[in-house]
Amino acid sequence: MPLVLGAGDLEIDLPRLAAELTEALRVGAEPGQRVRAAVTPDVTAMVLMPGTAPGIPAYTVKVHAKNPSRSPAITGVICLHDLSGDLLALIDSPGLTAVRTGLGGALGAHLLARPEARTVTVIGAGVQGRAQLEALAALRPVESVCVRDVDPAVAAEFSTWAAGLGIPPGPEGEIVLMATWAREPVLRSVPPGTHVTSLGADEPGKAELGPELLERALVVVDEPSLAHVRADTTIGAVLRGEHPGRACAEEVTVYSPAGLPLQDLVIAWHVYRNALS
Ligand SMILES: NC(=O)c1ccc[n+]([C@@H]2O[C@H](COP(=O)([O-])OP(=O)(O)OC[C@H]3O[C@@H](n4cnc5c(N)ncnc54)[C@H](O)[C@@H]3O)[C@@H](O)[C@H]2O)c1
Repeated sequence: MPLVLGAGDLEIDLPRLAAELTEALRVGAEPGQRVRAAVTPDVTAMVLMPGTAPGIPAYTVKVHAKNPSRSPAITGVICLHDLSGDLLALIDSPGLTAVRTGLGGALGAHLLARPEARTVTVIGAGVQGRAQLEALAALRPVESVCVRDVDPAVAAEFSTWAAGLGIPPGPEGEIVLMATWAREPVLRSVPPGTHVTSLGADEPGKAELGPELLERALVVVDEPSLAHVRADTTIGAVLRGEHPGRACAEEVTVYSPAGLPLQDLVIAWHVYRNALS
C-alpha cells in the first residue's frame, strides 16, 4: 500500500535535507518536463515530471495549482514512484513545495552572498518568503529582517513570526529574499555587495527585478532553459567549481531559480524515508 502523507506527517531534518539538496544540485539531473495550463484567468495548473536525481531509486510527478488569491496559493500532490513505476507515496504538496523552494532559494543566497552578510530584507511575506528566511537562518546567522509586502498586515504578521524565530526587525538587508506575484519589477537597484534571491520570475509574464539591476549583476539560475531572466551561469556550475560565483565583495549577485523537479524528488524521498524509519 502506498503511504499517504498529509501536511502533519512531514518529518524534515533541515540540515540533512540541505546537504541532500546541495548534492543533488551539484550533480544535476535532466530538467524534466513542465506542463502548464490555465484553469481560469487567475488559476494555473502545472505538472512537473519526472523528478529524478542520481542515487535516488525513485521519481516524482507533482501536480499543483497556483491561485494567488487564496492561502496557501500553491496546492496539490506529489506522487513518489519507484523506478519500475509503482506508487510509493502520495504526499500533500504545499508544505513540501515551500520547504524545497525556500531551501533552494536560501542555498543560492548562502552560496552567493558575502560570507559575513547577516541582515536580510524579505519582499513578499507569504509562504515562500517565510520558508526562505527560516531556511537561511538554518544555514547562517541572521541578525535582523526588514519586511516588505503590498499588504501591510501580512508584513506585520511576518515580522511578529520572525521575532518568534529570534530575528528582530532591522534596516534594509545585505541579502534580499523575494517571493511575490509581481508582473512588473519591484526592485530596480540595490547597494553594492547585495545578494538577491528572486523566486517570483518562475513563469512567463512574471518579473521581480529591473533590467538595470540584472544587467550589472552576476545572475545565477537553476536551469537556463527554464529561466525568465538572462543567466551568467547555473547553481550547479558554481557548486561544482566550474564557475567561481561571487567575484568580489562589491559585486551584486542574483539567484533566480524556476524550481526543478529534482527538488521535489529530494524532499519527497527525505520525508518518505523518515516516515518509514
Ligand atoms: N522559483 C520557484 O522555485 C518557486 C516555487 C514556488 C513558488 N514560487 C513563486 O513564489 C511566489 C510566491 O509564492 P507564495 O506561495 O509565497 O505566495 P503567497 O501568496 O503565499 O505570498 C506572496 C506574497 O507576496 C505579496 N506580493 C504580491 N505581489 C507583490 C508585490 N508586487 N510586491 C510586494 N509583495 C507582493 C503578497 O501580498 C503575498 O503576501 C509566486 O510567484 C510563486 O509562483 C517560485
